[in-house]
Amino acid sequence: MLILGIETSCDETGAALYDTEKGLLADVLHSQVELHALYGGVVPELASRDHVRRLLPLLRSLLERAGRPVEDVDLIAFTQGPGLGGALLVGASVAAGLGLALGKPVVGIHHLEGHLLSPLLADPRPEFPFVALLVSGGHTQLMRVDGVGRYEMLGETLDDAAGEAFDKTATLLGLGYPGGPALAKLAEGGDAKRFAFPRPMIASGDLDFSFSGLKTSVLTRVRELGATDDRTRADLAASFQAAIVDVLVAKCLQALDREGLERLVVAGGVGANSRLRARLEAGVADRGAKAYFPPLRLCTDNGAMIAFAAALKFPQGRSGNASFEVHPRWDLATAARATA
Ligand code: KG4
Ligand code: ZN
Repeated sequence: MLILGIETSCDETGAALYDTEKGLLADVLHSQVELHALYGGVVPELASRDHVRRLLPLLRSLLERAGRPVEDVDLIAFTQGPGLGGALLVGASVAAGLGLALGKPVVGIHHLEGHLLSPLLADPRPEFPFVALLVSGGHTQLMRVDGVGRYEMLGETLDDAAGEAFDKTATLLGLGYPGGPALAKLAEGGDAKRFAFPRPMIASGDLDFSFSGLKTSVLTRVRELGATDDRTRADLAASFQAAIVDVLVAKCLQALDREGLERLVVAGGVGANSRLRARLEAGVADRGAKAYFPPLRLCTDNGAMIAFAAALKFPQGRSGNASFEVHPRWDLATAARATA
C-alpha cells in the first residue's frame, strides 16, 4: 500500500510517500523559517498563504523523486490537528480534493501521534511498551505507549512547552526565530555552570513540568547584567539549556522507574537538541535502559511521520473519507479513542 502524507500544521510544508512494503520512498519539505524570521515568530495568515503556494509544487516534486504517478497512491493522510486553523485547512483541502479526484480514501492524523510514532521509523525500532517524551514548540508531555492508539498521559507542562521556553529565551538573548536551534548553537561555546538557574519541579514527585519561571529567571539575570558581551550571552544560553535539559532528563528517568519500563522514545523538535540527546543516552544507560530518537531530520515537522502514522493506524487501508474538518486544539487521548 502506498500512502501519501501531508503536513501543514504550522510553519513547514511537508509531504512524503510511504510504502508499507518498502518503507519511506521520498520525503520533501519546505520550511517557512525565512518568511517568519522577519517577524520574530510564526504569523498564522502568512503561514496559511505560503502552504497554499507551496503544497502542490511540493507534491509534484515528491512524486517525481519517488518516480511514481499520483494514481499509485492508495491512501491519503493529512495532519488534522492540532495546529493553526488556516494552515491545517490547506492540507485538509488538498487531501480531500486529491481523494475525490483519485477516488482514494483520506484519513486525518493527529500531529502529535505523528511525532510520537516517528521514532519507529528508526533502526533499531523500539518495541512496545515504552515511555515517550514529546517535546515540541507547543507540547511537553510524557506518555506511556502500549501500542498504536494506546496512550496514557503521565505528565505534561503546566505552562510553557520546552520548545517555547527555548524560543522565548532565545528572543531574550537577541537571537532570531526559530530560537531553539540558535540558542543550542550559542550554548556550544558557553559555560553551563556560570549561572545557577532553577530546575523547576525537578523534585515535585509527579511527572509534570513548568518552564515559565525558568524563562523569567533568565530575564531577571539579563536585566541585572545590563549590556551583555558575547561570552556572557553564550554562558547564559548554556546555563539555561543545562537547566531545562536536567529537568527533562530527570522526569524521563522518573517516568521509566514509575512505569517499570526500560525503553524511552523521544520525539518532537526539541528532540533535535544534542545536549538533551547525550544526557538522556547517558541517563538511561546508567539504569540498563535504552533511548530511541527519530533520525534528526524527522524530529521537527515533516510529512513522513504523517504517512507513517497512517500506515501503522490503518494497516489494511481504509474506505471512505475523513470528515473535511480540522481540529486546531485536539487532545491526543480523545483522538486515539475516536479512531480506536
Ligand atoms: O516539533 P516541532 O518542529 O514543531 C512543533 O510541533 O512545535 O518543534 C519546534 C520546536 C521549536 O520550539 C524549536 O525551537 C525547537 O523545537 N527546536 C529545538 C532544537 N531544534 C528545534 N530546541 C532546542 N534545541 C534544538 N536543537
Ligand atoms: Zn510538531
